[in-house]
Amino acid sequence: MSGLFITLEGPEGAGKSTNREYLAECLRRQGLDVLMTREPGGTPLAERIRELLLAPSAEPMASDTELLLVFAARAQHLAQVIRPALERGCVVLCDRFTDATYAYQGGGRGLSTSRIAVLEAFVQGDLRPDLTLIFDLPVEVGLARAAARGRLDRFEQEGQAFFQAVRQAYLQRAAAEPQRYRIIDAGQSLAQVQLSLDVLLPQLLELARG
Ligand SMILES: Nc1ncnc2c1ncn2[C@@H]1O[C@H](COP(=O)(O)OP(=O)(O)OP(=O)(O)O)[C@@H](O)[C@H]1O
Ligand SMILES: [Mg+2]
Repeated sequence: MSGLFITLEGPEGAGKSTNREYLAECLRRQGLDVLMTREPGGTPLAERIRELLLAPSAEPMASDTELLLVFAARAQHLAQVIRPALERGCVVLCDRFTDATYAYQGGGRGLSTSRIAVLEAFVQGDLRPDLTLIFDLPVEVGLARAAARGRLDRFEQEGQAFFQAVRQAYLQRAAAEPQRYRIIDAGQSLAQVQLSLDVLLPQLLELARG
């Protein structure tokens, strides 16, 4: 595959979607073909699975159900969108991917890393992001930004402890494989965050141009 697969990670309100737009614009200005997408979702069917995952529901969702739905959506997204775009040579900017599964279903829900890894291998084969940007910020700041947007989804209704575990899981993954991850201090102003993305841009261009 000739494209470049970049994922944006971090908790609710970290600025993933805002900065995905910003990065896409920077890369397009350099003449690159950029595809923006997100998880869970990214295809009509996968977006329906997203709705199941995010909707608050009276029936508690078992953690295994949640995990399998996440990977079911991912299988669809990979088949319909991500793999074809990478084969066409696009830069794929994906808002959340499997690191989010390790952080939310692993860290947050407490599912074991090894079980997640089994599904990762099953669904993705050896496809992994080329680069992952982690938008890291204090839990309270992210939750306040998410709350300011209005009604909370099923994950946003979780408490501080859940999101502390999510944050720690992301940071642990980055520490274990530092060459694949860049940690962005997302607690700064948007202008400062975008300056740190500007600093990364030459590296991204070098990767994209091989
Ligand atoms: N650095 C920043 N400083 C202040 N506000 C910000 C910053 N970055 C983003 N925001 C604002 O915080 C809110 C959440 O940002 P955004 O939707 O990009 O986050 P997200 O990571 O995509 O969240 P989610 O996971 O819930 O989709 C938005 O209203 C956005 O304008
Ligand atoms: Mg978003």
